[in-house]
Amino acid sequence: MKILGIETSCDDTCAAVLIDDKVISNVISSQTDLHKDWGGVVPDIAKRAHAARIKSVIATALMRAKSKIQNSKIKNKEERIEKIIEHGMKEIDVIAVTKGPGLAIALSVGVNTAKEMAKKYNKKLVAVNHIEGHILSNLVKNSSGLPEVKIVFPALCLTASGGHTKIILINQNYQNSKLKIQNSKNEYLVVGETLDDAAGEALDKAAKLLGLGYPGGPVIERLAKGAKTDFIPLPKPLADKKILDYSFSGLKTSFYYKIKDWPKEEVNKNLGNLAATFQESVFETLLRKFDLAIDRFQPKTLMASGGVLANMDLRKKLRRLAKKKGLMIYMPVKKWLNTDNAAMIGRVGWEMAKREEWADPETLDRDPRMELGIRN
Ligand code: KG4
Ligand code: ZN
Repeated sequence: MKILGIETSCDDTCAAVLIDDKVISNVISSQTDLHKDWGGVVPDIAKRAHAARIKSVIATALMRAKSKIQNSKIKNKEERIEKIIEHGMKEIDVIAVTKGPGLAIALSVGVNTAKEMAKKYNKKLVAVNHIEGHILSNLVKNSSGLPEVKIVFPALCLTASGGHTKIILINQNYQNSKLKIQNSKNEYLVVGETLDDAAGEALDKAAKLLGLGYPGGPVIERLAKGAKTDFIPLPKPLADKKILDYSFSGLKTSFYYKIKDWPKEEVNKNLGNLAATFQESVFETLLRKFDLAIDRFQPKTLMASGGVLANMDLRKKLRRLAKKKGLMIYMPVKKWLNTDNAAMIGRVGWEMAKREEWADPETLDRDPRMELGIRN
């Protein structure tokens, strides 16, 4: 099955072509430069950039996926893009688009484009949950079919990005499927989640306080290397061992009050130590609740994903935790598979298409607050 994935839930305009679970082409047009001076994503700027870029991102993904596409000689850019899409769509079976959660006006660009294309080229359409995309990003393979990932259920996944932070227990339901394993459906139980800011959002806000721009995670990671991780005392949010939920906003507020009266030179002189201390607090919190959830739910495999997992220090800490528990942990190996991309959306779309969970191209609407599975 050939799938076109489309993702516009935040600030990356993405399209990918997959054959089943293998990525054939993947295009990500990042808007970081447009948002960085604002210290976060500005929805209206994101929407306009998505709208301006989506067709050319899709055309590029389709063109790269096709072995012998004719590079059209048409001069007008819009016409040329339409021609490439028309040509490339001949080989596509299914369009998979992010329905939510995410920024409403940003999601609309992807959803409307997918609906328009499904009707115009008479293609099947599936509506994908962005968080399920992040979870299954661990199962996306390259064109040679690698890496081989063997998930033993139940699996426990920590997914942490700029928009969400959740611990999810994943089981497979064989009863509802005719073809057992091939068409099995994952069941998601959210056992912990953030009650306020997401982990990535906390890093972004701390970076903004330190005057480091957006996105904060990568700059903080760079500055934190080799610096002191206990430079100032910060609270341990929701220390109660019975609670598996997260809270990051208190951490950020405490950080703000600790440094708000410092002279600018003092902050600048200690940027590395401040970044490392804040990052350590966020990661310690992420790990502490994940550790508790592992003990409580006794999973057979661990998974982690989402933009924050691009961080090498967090990956190392998670690997250490998995080793301590005697469990295998999977994390996307490619940096771009951790942050937003359309390959993960296509990967979920493939499973939905096998189960024939079609969306109606006439009525499909984005769902900015779309839930995944059920809350424990
Ligand atoms: O998954 P993602 O691309 O978008 C959302 O769904 O939100 O995640 C973006 C988030 C941002 O908050 C960004 O600061 C964080 O992931 N991030 C990182 C790193 N790279 C991106 N956080 C820590 N270390 C990184 N290297
Ligand atoms: Zn995301």
